[in-house]
Amino acid sequence: MPEYRMLLNPAANHVYRQATPALAAAELEVTAPFVTAIEPTTVGGADALRFSADDPDELVLAGQSSLLACFEENGGWLRPLELPELRVLDDDLVTIPKYPGKTNEAFTRLLLHLTLSQVARPGPLEVLDPLAGRGTTLLAAWQAGQHGYGVETDEKAFDALVSYLKTYLRAKRIKHSVQVTPVRRDGRSIGRRLDAEARLDEATRDRSARPGQPRLKMTVFTGDTRDAAALFGRKRFDAIVTDAPYGIVHGAEHRGQGRQNTQGHQNGRDRSPQGLLSEAIPVWRSQLKAGGALGIAWNTYTLSRAELLEMLAETGLHGLDEGPWLNFEHRVDSSIVRDLVVAVAD
Ligand SMILES: C[S@@+](CC[C@H](N)C(=O)[O-])C[C@H]1O[C@@H](n2cnc3c(N)ncnc32)[C@H](O)[C@@H]1O
Repeated sequence: MPEYRMLLNPAANHVYRQATPALAAAELEVTAPFVTAIEPTTVGGADALRFSADDPDELVLAGQSSLLACFEENGGWLRPLELPELRVLDDDLVTIPKYPGKTNEAFTRLLLHLTLSQVARPGPLEVLDPLAGRGTTLLAAWQAGQHGYGVETDEKAFDALVSYLKTYLRAKRIKHSVQVTPVRRDGRSIGRRLDAEARLDEATRDRSARPGQPRLKMTVFTGDTRDAAALFGRKRFDAIVTDAPYGIVHGAEHRGQGRQNTQGHQNGRDRSPQGLLSEAIPVWRSQLKAGGALGIAWNTYTLSRAELLEMLAETGLHGLDEGPWLNFEHRVDSSIVRDLVVAVAD
């Protein structure tokens, strides 16, 4: 069976770089059923994966989140594969923003790819990040040609996303509209919403192998994620992709203590995301289209995998929990060991 080498993108973050080969191997095993005998290796000192495949699907290889380049091995020589370009916008859309609490963009791409791999519908898909921060998931979704939707409680994070989008789209000369409007309920203001659209011109679209998606949409509300269904109304999403608060840089806004928010809920800082997730997951579940998938990353020091799977099961979601799905846990720092679960409807 023909053998291949996939060179892996060297992550800027040293810790994530160490975790990348194992994560990339698990991602390939989950998303590329035609591949066998996957193992981490190096090519000229650079991290890579070795695998075997008969007639590999190039679109699937091109979709791997850590892919730098792929080669077929031929009598000791490596022949480069010209894989299709799946990104509709440049990498710097996601890599330029740098701030404490940002979810590593390479990890965000991994979680997005794994979650979307469980959605059978053709794109462009509608992706919700109900703990959006400054929008790493939403920007990664745009880069992959999908629409992004979000909810975020931190007004400063919301403002930073708005100004970044305006600056980036203007600097790249991409036709766009970015609007922020107040949100009112019963005559009083309860927050703000961002509505952005990027109109990709022929040149931007033609570089991608994806069927042309001329307009990418983004809507983000300020507010509490447990009000996400109220904020988005009847809208349903193909995928929900989110990185839960780690209880370190970002506390979880948790009801039951502290000040009241604009919707009349009690807020407070809770160092564990457990309370937040147990209240938010049923809300998010109600926002998922039939055939949709939910991908969550979280800090295993604050919540066990079994507890999270149980929360998901209570809403009728089945967390994928076998084989390579168990290989995504990795250390981020001394207080964070991150894992992910992708769940689909039973
Ligand atoms: C781990 S961070 C996500 C970071 C994001 N992926 C990024 O790269 O910018 C979790 C986010 O959840 C937000 N958050 C915490 N509790 C919330 C709540 N109850 N409702 C909405 N957002 C909340 C925090 O403000 C923080 O931005």
